[in-house]
Amino acid sequence: MIVLGIESSCDETGIAVYDSDKGLLAHTLHSQIEVHAEYGGVVPELASRDHIRYLIPLLEQALQRAGKKKSEIDGIAYTAGPGLIGALMSGASVGRSLAWALGIPALEVHHMEGHLLAPMLEDNAPPFPFVALLVSGGHTLLAYVRGIGQYELLGQSLDDAAGEAFDKTAKLLGLGYPGGPALAALAEKGTPGVYKFPRPMVDRPGLDFSFSGLKTFALNTMQKAAHADGSDGELTQQTKADISLAFEEAVVDTLKIKCCRALEQQHCKTLVIAGGVGANKRLRADLAEMSEQLGGELFYPRIEFCTDNGAMIAQAGCFRLMAGETQPLEIDARARWSMQDLKAI
Ligand code: KG4
Ligand code: ZN
Repeated sequence: MIVLGIESSCDETGIAVYDSDKGLLAHTLHSQIEVHAEYGGVVPELASRDHIRYLIPLLEQALQRAGKKKSEIDGIAYTAGPGLIGALMSGASVGRSLAWALGIPALEVHHMEGHLLAPMLEDNAPPFPFVALLVSGGHTLLAYVRGIGQYELLGQSLDDAAGEAFDKTAKLLGLGYPGGPALAALAEKGTPGVYKFPRPMVDRPGLDFSFSGLKTFALNTMQKAAHADGSDGELTQQTKADISLAFEEAVVDTLKIKCCRALEQQHCKTLVIAGGVGANKRLRADLAEMSEQLGGELFYPRIEFCTDNGAMIAQAGCFRLMAGETQPLEIDARARWSMQDLKAI
């Protein structure tokens, strides 16, 4: 079965062609960084317009790269939520209409299920069951995954998602948008031990997270540093790097402690990282070290499939279409959508 996947939930337009036998055939991606950079964050209306501009050209390009004609597509999978409603609607409208015109089924895909199953795009796919750490710009959660659609929520962020905390702290440091990768890059130049940030909620039982306090801690640290003896109210690039490093260490350490707790609680040795923050090098390295110490195995997708992309949507949609899932013709994108509502296949 050949499935065309469409991702348009936020600030990236992604299209992919996935073959149920051969795996991913081709994918294309357009990032809206240039559109939103001058505003310091994603402007929803501009995001929708940009998706509309790029969806069809990217779709043509992906099919060409895959060596497939539209008539060879057996099904279309598009992100129906969660995300920005206008952005979702643009991909959903293209997906449903094209499927209708071609007389093939179209299926809604949950964006976070796409992320969660993204490590299966790799040759060394994780076996079920596993503990998944899903860390993106909008969500941070730990789930016990028994199979596709069988997601037991173990814990989640009570306030800011990990990616959101990275983005907001980066903004405070004047690093602009997108903040996470910029802060991580600056942290590489930081000196360890200059600043120490707290590890929120690790001394409490349970697997929930809270990252909003770290952003406030960063602000206080910046203000103190700016008024320290010898400073003229401006932070040096080195101080910004030292704060970035201390912040990154705190987020990564907190995630690591909770992942370890989740694996022990579930008597599981397989850990999966997915979502945009999964691209963070320190997180990957620290969790790999922890998994090794526990005698377990860590799985994550290549960097380009950590952040938003069409391949993960095409794959998740293909799994569900192959299982015979069908849906009515209406276009029903939603900004909020719980993963718990997904059907097991
Ligand atoms: O999964 P994703 O592409 O979009 C959502 O579904 O939200 O995740 C985007 C998030 C942003 O908050 C971004 O700053 C963060 O992932 N991110 C990173 C890194 N690369 C992306 N955070 C930390 N370090 C990175 N290298
Ligand atoms: Zn995402």
